[in-house]
Formats: sequence, structure tokens, C-alpha cells
Amino acid sequence: MSSTDPQSGSMPKPGDTQAGAQAAARSAERDAIHEALESRLMAIEAAARFHHVELDRDELRYPKGTTPSPAALVEWVRDGGLWCRAIRMRFGQLLKIEVASPVILLLRDGSAALLTTVDPARNIVWLKDPRAASGDPPVAVDELRLSQVWSGETLLLRAIRELTDENAPFSFLWVWGLVRQEHKLLRDIIYGSVAVSFLTLVPPLMVMTVIDRVLTYKSLSTLSLISLFFLLAVVYETLLGHARRKITFIIGARVDAKITLHVFKRMLRLPLDFFERQQAGVITFRISQVNKIREFMTGKMMSTILDLVTLIVVVPVIFFIQPTLAWVTMSCAALIGVIIVIFIGPVNRAVGRWTSAETQKSSVLVETLHGIRTVKSLALEPQQREMWDRRTATSVQLRLEASEISNWPQTLIHPLEGFMSRGVVLLGAAFAILDPGTVNPGLLIAYMMISSRVASPLANMARVLDDFQEVRIAVGFVQSIVNQPPESVNPSAGLRPRFEGHIEYNKVNYSYPGTKTKALDGISFEVPAGTMLGLVGKSGSGKSTITRLLQGITRDYEGFVKLDGNDLREINLAHMRRSFGVVLQENFLFRGTIRENIIAGRPGMTLTDAVRAARLAGAEEFIERMPNGYETWIEEGSPNLSGGQRQRLAIARAVIHDPRLLILDEATSALDPESEALVNANLTRLGKGRTMVIVSHRLTSLTECDQILVLDKGKVADMAPHLVLVERCSVYRQLWLQQNRHLDSSAARASGPAPVLAQGD
Ligand SMILES: Nc1ncnc2c1ncn2[C@@H]1O[C@H](COP(=O)(O)OP(=O)(O)O)[C@@H](O)[C@H]1O
Ligand SMILES: [Mg+2]
Repeated sequence: MSSTDPQSGSMPKPGDTQAGAQAAARSAERDAIHEALESRLMAIEAAARFHHVELDRDELRYPKGTTPSPAALVEWVRDGGLWCRAIRMRFGQLLKIEVASPVILLLRDGSAALLTTVDPARNIVWLKDPRAASGDPPVAVDELRLSQVWSGETLLLRAIRELTDENAPFSFLWVWGLVRQEHKLLRDIIYGSVAVSFLTLVPPLMVMTVIDRVLTYKSLSTLSLISLFFLLAVVYETLLGHARRKITFIIGARVDAKITLHVFKRMLRLPLDFFERQQAGVITFRISQVNKIREFMTGKMMSTILDLVTLIVVVPVIFFIQPTLAWVTMSCAALIGVIIVIFIGPVNRAVGRWTSAETQKSSVLVETLHGIRTVKSLALEPQQREMWDRRTATSVQLRLEASEISNWPQTLIHPLEGFMSRGVVLLGAAFAILDPGTVNPGLLIAYMMISSRVASPLANMARVLDDFQEVRIAVGFVQSIVNQPPESVNPSAGLRPRFEGHIEYNKVNYSYPGTKTKALDGISFEVPAGTMLGLVGKSGSGKSTITRLLQGITRDYEGFVKLDGNDLREINLAHMRRSFGVVLQENFLFRGTIRENIIAGRPGMTLTDAVRAARLAGAEEFIERMPNGYETWIEEGSPNLSGGQRQRLAIARAVIHDPRLLILDEATSALDPESEALVNANLTRLGKGRTMVIVSHRLTSLTECDQILVLDKGKVADMAPHLVLVERCSVYRQLWLQQNRHLDSSAARASGPAPVLAQGD
């Protein structure tokens, strides 16, 4: 068991000053807290490992300098793909657990213990210290001893089995499952609805009594009693209605939060290819359909279900009041049902056509906004507007058609509904005339009032049907995004080695989906750890594809890519990408300060790290000249920075965590010569102590590389240092001469060797 006395072993020495003693005590306390946290994390990791899940400490999110809350720990485990809950237990409950998988007791001092077995007969539990060696036996602990260190906080872990889990496919039922999780609130709503239904029976029955008894016998006392009842019923109905709506809002908000979080999480897990294949507009539109589903489920659908509850209460009553009329009412109801069913198909199809037109329309909007610079500078406004006009016209047209069709069931239902609530009165009056004594006027009016309660829910169902079609389509849209295969099935699976930076490609073939030509054709090469590799070749020769494979963006290639001898496909993706730095030609800077953009949310990084990274990237000097230095605000898309400045910030962001592998894919290609020279001057410094892969079509920026790989139509043409390539590789020499015509080739040769030699030592 872990020690409960954080001060033990580090008492201040007698000679210390008071302040010194306090400092020592504080630092001892910090050590103890750190140690306890370590034990807690180890316990959780061990429990997760039991289910074959490796948790990544970088994914544990909690405010620095604090102890992570049980909620943060639960979130961490869930992110790893396991079921987890924090609960408070008593010793008695602990004894009843079937310890099928590890149970973690969170101890008062911040550490943790693993529960291995329980022995209810002897009233003891067996605990294991997570820091103990694996061979150490567990310790028996009784209730008294445990209560001294444990307040009842417990973490339970399991493999996921339920339907409403992280990995279940998105569907209508899945969302409904979320709604059902709120069963306690739902139950309250249903009770409330049943009560309200009974209360709504009060006024008609009263009217009946008033007319048949009070008016006939002129009884004032009965009237006042009835009035009191009436008042009470109204008050109750109002309050219950208020509560019912409130609970509905609460359920709506909760379900909304759950769906939104889930959908975003799932979207982020999709591979990059998916986003490259799909238009951003289409994705945005489809994801936004989630709102429709949630609105429907917690709004119209809920109220329809509640209306049905009302029917269960009301229908027996109308049969009780007047069976013949009740049969007439129910026949009308059946007719309404038939009309609803007949129109399901046509409405469905019409709404489907309209929605797909709507998708097309919104993709024009998004495309125009994304490319607004190009649209403006090439004066493409008329074209875009024309396209928008056309798509809008189509959409409006289809919308009209859809409304036209869905108008019919409502139109047909309307007279039936009217007959159910009012026409039956005429029928009842006829009964009264033909067979006097069976139907009183009061009863007739009461029947009319109650039967309208049967008619309106049914008519509402017809309207809900309309929305239901839209929602089904919305579900389809969300499914088409969210149910795509994720980048890795189990985000926590895979090796998490410490990288040295040795890269090896072995007979790698790759074609992009839907293309016939090979983007990479039998690529084999090797890069020793800590060296610089240059990648050159004509546009489209496969340079970017090589770096994409290296980042694990595309994983369905043939052959092997190995990092330090480990097959790339075996390595945990998130871990790998976190250990890399990547700078592309276009880099996105997020809204926020320069410091925040460099740190990019990496846990544990401070301003000092940001300054160090900025210096390495050659960005320090311009950042310091900015009005607020590192706190200067950058807008989305960073309009207040030049291309070179943006690029240097991107490099700083890529190297802040000191990656073992740095990939620059045409990072300087869009820069002006001055900015390019600034970045290139730093390359050797950037590359110190790590492997670098630099893609550039400007050969002068690669002369310092240890090796240059020349690609030609997806094949390796040659691989050697610059000087050798100029001599022996025709593709390279051609490129070099094209770009350096102004230089005499001997001068080029003279400028080449110096840096390479300098690099060598
Ligand atoms: N997303 C993609 N889908 C289909 N083909 C692609 C895709 N990206 C690149 N390609 C093709 O793969 C080949 C290599 O592309 P790439 O590696 O980007 O070349 P480079 O970076 O050398 O200019 C090219 O022929 C290109 O047309
Ligand atoms: Mg490229």
C-alpha cells in the first residue's frame, strides 16, 4: 500500500532557516503529490492493459499543477475506447463485486490501488499497489484499514459492449437510444402526461353535469362544487404542462450535447483522404443535419408519443360515454391512418429530391466563400451567381413539388378531423331524436369536447410523418459522414516506441483510389537517423505521396515503410504524428495569439518553449517587432502576416515539441526569395539532432542535404548527395541546369561542396 504520510523521509534538517524548511516541506509535498499521481496513472494503465488498451498520457487533459479529477480520468479511459465510470462505493458493496476485470480504488492521498479479489467470508479485500513489481503478492486489507486511506471513490473499467457506445454506427435507433438513456425524466414526462390527460377529461365531464343536472334541477350548490373542481383542474393542468415542457427542454439539451460531441469526435477520426474526396460544403451541410434529428426527436416525436398516451386514456372514456359514436370516431381515425400510410412513399421521394438539391446549393455557397479571393480577383462573380441562381431555382422548384405532395394527406385528413370532433354531434342529435332518452344534450357536448382530443393527435401524426421523412434523409446524411471507416479502428492500439528517426521504404507501390497509374512504383530507400533527405522531381512525380505515407495518411500501400525497424502500420497513429513535425506549403493558423499558435494546445508547453521554437524557425525577430510580441492576435487565415512570416510560424509550431522527424513539403516554395533564404539559412540548425525530409522543387535549397532522392514518375531515379547527382543523374542535372542557367556549372560545383562538408563534421 502506498504511504499516507507525504512528509516521511524528507524532514528538514535542524540547521535550516524557517524559509528553507518551508521550501523543503513544499518540495517534499510536491514530490509526494507527484508520486501519488504516478501510482494512480499506473493503476489505470494496468487496468486498461488488461483489456488490451494502451492509454496515452498525452491524452489525459487536466489543469496543470492540479491532480486530475476522477471525471478527467474517466474521460481519458473512454478516449482510449473503454467503458469507464467513477462511483462512490462502501466496503460492503466492494465485497459483493465480482472482480472479473480490474477495479481501481482512488485513495485519499491521490494514489490508487488495484482490487484483485474479495473475500466476503472473511470480510477482507485483496489489494495490489500498482507500483509494486508484477510478481509481488496482493495485500489483504480489512474494512477499518481501508477506511483510513479510502473514501469510497472507485473507477470501474470494462470493454465496451452496449449499443449506444462510441463505435456503434450512427442511426435513428442510436439517437433514440440516447433519448432513452434519459429514462428517469421520460418516465416523469409520461406520468405527467397521463395525469394531464385525466385532467383534460374534467372540463367536458363538468359541462355534461352542468347541463344535465345543474340546469335541469337548478342546483346552485352543485354548481359551486363543480366550479371549485374546475378551478383546481385548471391549476393542475397548467402546472403539469409547464413541468412537462421544462423536462422536454432538458432532455433536448442533454441529447443535443451528446449527439454533437459524438458526431464531431467521429468526424475527427476519419482519414484525411475522406476530406480530400468530399467537398467541404457537402460535409458541413450533412453534419449540420444532426440538428434536425435532435429537434425532431425531442420535439415533434416526443409530443406525438405523449399525445398517444393521451389517446390511451381518452379512448376508453368515449366508449364509456357513447359506444356507437365512439365507433364512428374510431372508423374516422382508421381512415386517417390509411391516408397516412398511402402517402409515406411519395412524400418520402419528393422530400429526398428536394434535400439533395439543397445540398448542391449549399456546396456552391461554401465553395464561393472558400475561394472568394479567386472569385474576386478573376471577377468570377457572375458565374458563381448564375450557378447559385440555377441551383436555388431547382431547389425552390423541388421544394414546391414536395410541399405539394405532402399537402395532400393534410388536406384529406382535415374534413375527417372536423367530422370526428364536430360532425359526430349531428349524428348524436339524430340518435337523440330517433331514440329519445339515450343521448342527453350535456353528454353530446361532452362527447364533442373529448373526441376532439382523439382527432387532433391523429392529425398531428400525419404532420409528423412529413417531418419524419425529412429526418430519415437527415439521418442518411449524417450516416454518410459519421459511419465511414475511421482512420484507425482502435485509436489506442499499436506500438508507441521512442523514435530515433531511421526511415526505410522497401518496394513500396501505391495508387490513389480511383486511379490506374501508380503514384509510387517500387520505391526503396533508407534514411539513417539524424540525417537530412531531400526529395526532388517534377510536379506529380510522387514527392508528396512519399511524405503522406510517412505520416500514415494513406495506409493501404504495398510493400513496407519502417520507422526504426518497426512497420509503420503497427505504430499507433496519434503517437506517431505527435512525434513528428510537418510543414506544408499552405499552413493554417488558427484564431488566437502567436504564442497559442506556436504551442498549438500541446500540454505542458510554455512561453519559453514558444520562444525557443520561434528562434529555431527564424521567426523570433519579426515576432518581437510586432505590437504585442508573442501576444499579437492572429485572425483566421492570418491576413495580418506575410507569407514568409506565416511559414516561419508554421515551422516554429512544427518544432516546438522537438520532433524526431521533421517533414517540410514545399514549405518554402510559395515564398519570395528573401523569406526563402531566411528559412533555408536555418535548415541545418533545424535539422540538428533529428531526421529531416525536405521536399522542394528548388534545388538550391537542397544542396546541404546528406542525400537527395530524385523521383521520376513515381520511380527512384537516383539517390546521392548533390555533387554526385550533378555528375551522374541526368534527370537531376537537367533540373539543376534549368534552374541555374545563370550559374556556370563549375561555379555551381564550387558552391555545392562547402556546406555538405560542413554538415559532415
Ligand atoms: N488525392 C489524390 N487523388 C488522386 N491522385 C492523386 C492525389 N494526390 C496526388 N495524386 C496523383 O499522384 C501523383 C503524385 O502526386 P504527388 O505525390 O502529389 O506529386 P508531387 O508532390 O511530386 O507533385 C500525381 O500523378 C497526382 O496526380
Ligand atoms: Mg507535392
